Amino acid sequence: MLVQGATPWNPRRLLGRLTQCGFDPRRGSSWQVPTPARGYSAAGTDEGERPRTVTTAVSAPSGFGFASHLFCRECGATSALGASHACAECFGPLEVGYELPPVTRARIEAGPASIWRYASLLPVPQDVAARPNTEPGWTRLARTDQLARELGLRALWLKDERGNPTHSFKDRVVAVALAAAVEMGYKVLACPSTGNLANAVAAAAARAGIRSVVLIPADLEPQKIAATAIYGGAMVPIEGTYDDVNRLASELADDREDWAFVNVNVRPYYAEGSKTIGYEIAEQLGWRLPEQIVVPVASGAQLVKIDKAFRELIELGLVADTKYRVFGAQATGCSPVAAAFRAGYDVVQPVKPATIAKSLAIGNPADGPYVLDVVRRTGGAVADVGDDEVVHAIRMLAATEGIFGETASGVTLGVLRRLLTDGLLDPGAETVIINSGDGLKTLDAAASGGPAGTAAIRPTLEAFEAWESARAA
Ligand SMILES: Cc1ncc(COP(=O)(O)O)c(C=O)c1O
Ligand SMILES: [Zn+2]
Repeated sequence: MLVQGATPWNPRRLLGRLTQCGFDPRRGSSWQVPTPARGYSAAGTDEGERPRTVTTAVSAPSGFGFASHLFCRECGATSALGASHACAECFGPLEVGYELPPVTRARIEAGPASIWRYASLLPVPQDVAARPNTEPGWTRLARTDQLARELGLRALWLKDERGNPTHSFKDRVVAVALAAAVEMGYKVLACPSTGNLANAVAAAAARAGIRSVVLIPADLEPQKIAATAIYGGAMVPIEGTYDDVNRLASELADDREDWAFVNVNVRPYYAEGSKTIGYEIAEQLGWRLPEQIVVPVASGAQLVKIDKAFRELIELGLVADTKYRVFGAQATGCSPVAAAFRAGYDVVQPVKPATIAKSLAIGNPADGPYVLDVVRRTGGAVADVGDDEVVHAIRMLAATEGIFGETASGVTLGVLRRLLTDGLLDPGAETVIINSGDGLKTLDAAASGGPAGTAAIRPTLEAFEAWESARAA
């Protein structure tokens, strides 16, 4: 049985995070450095330490399954499961901890072909699969040999998140948030979104028969706006960046008692949904971990949770404890985590985004410091590429593998190429990349500077041959 504790106490980073929030240590303040919570022992020596494993009696699952408590990522204070997302001691982000039962490969393999095959590792009721939901997950892990050859890589797989109900990985996190929100009595499903989350929230709420309200930056891609509006919930375009939208959502979350903003006041539960990407990759590789993985970074939650999933699988004895390296991918026009990585900082300086990769355009990423922890602990890196390289990578993936990814996918593949060029990624190691969303939702970006020769021709052999010779020339 596995009981998860907190990441160990790290006052250095907490001070840095407060500085980022406007706290000036030189001016002083009445704010006190909190002591670690009673009952929490600072086992381990650094923030990258694994969750502690101890043996306990397993209690019967609650409406949150085998999740047993929340704990603060910064100071380790624990609290009861419920509708809180910030630590009462230090305002650090809260994380879900579990008292897991023994879990076997066979039991997981006998489960549904969706994220619910891992229900016992998520903070959800154990009958969750039987409730109306979008049944996301169990997307294919495609072996991409032609792309690998082009890149000079020995073995490359692509986790194709287009296979989800609204065509991005966001269906996973929303399904988990919805189940927890219903359990906590919330009546409305809401979010601030860079696009894909809005699609997923509107669809999941429609399926569950509850109201949805999504807030989006007004300049989102038209396909993402249309693909949200179709579900009939409330959609509110906001003048400003995603970070402005997010601030408004935080104020509303305080004001509207029965609204579950999935990535704000329900964030500890929501973020757990991304663990399922990591579980699936390991299971689909034949119950083992890849040697390298490249993950797109906006808030950073996906990357942090894939790492959490890998560590849980090791702790549970479901995979061998093999070394893996995690790499983060950002667009240069919104690369605060890559910049912090390069500079050797463990805090992230917010930026104003300017990139075609709008789904990744979060200038002040909530999980930025934890992304830095993960990549440094595993020997990875965070890097960025410009918009031209993003478009180039989208085309390369489509042309070599028949997979049309969105701009975030272009960022991920573009960064993989950059890491190879810079010698940071081992071409001989087995590598996985995440194709987190669908190119049909970012058509304009992919078409920019697009292929010529799309003018119509007359329906004659002569016209066709003329077109052929023009093309050859
Ligand atoms: C397609 C796509 N990929 C990746 C991400 C990054 O996710 P995270 O915020 O968990 O870093 C997003 C976030 O919106 C997204 O829409
Ligand atoms: Zn705390």
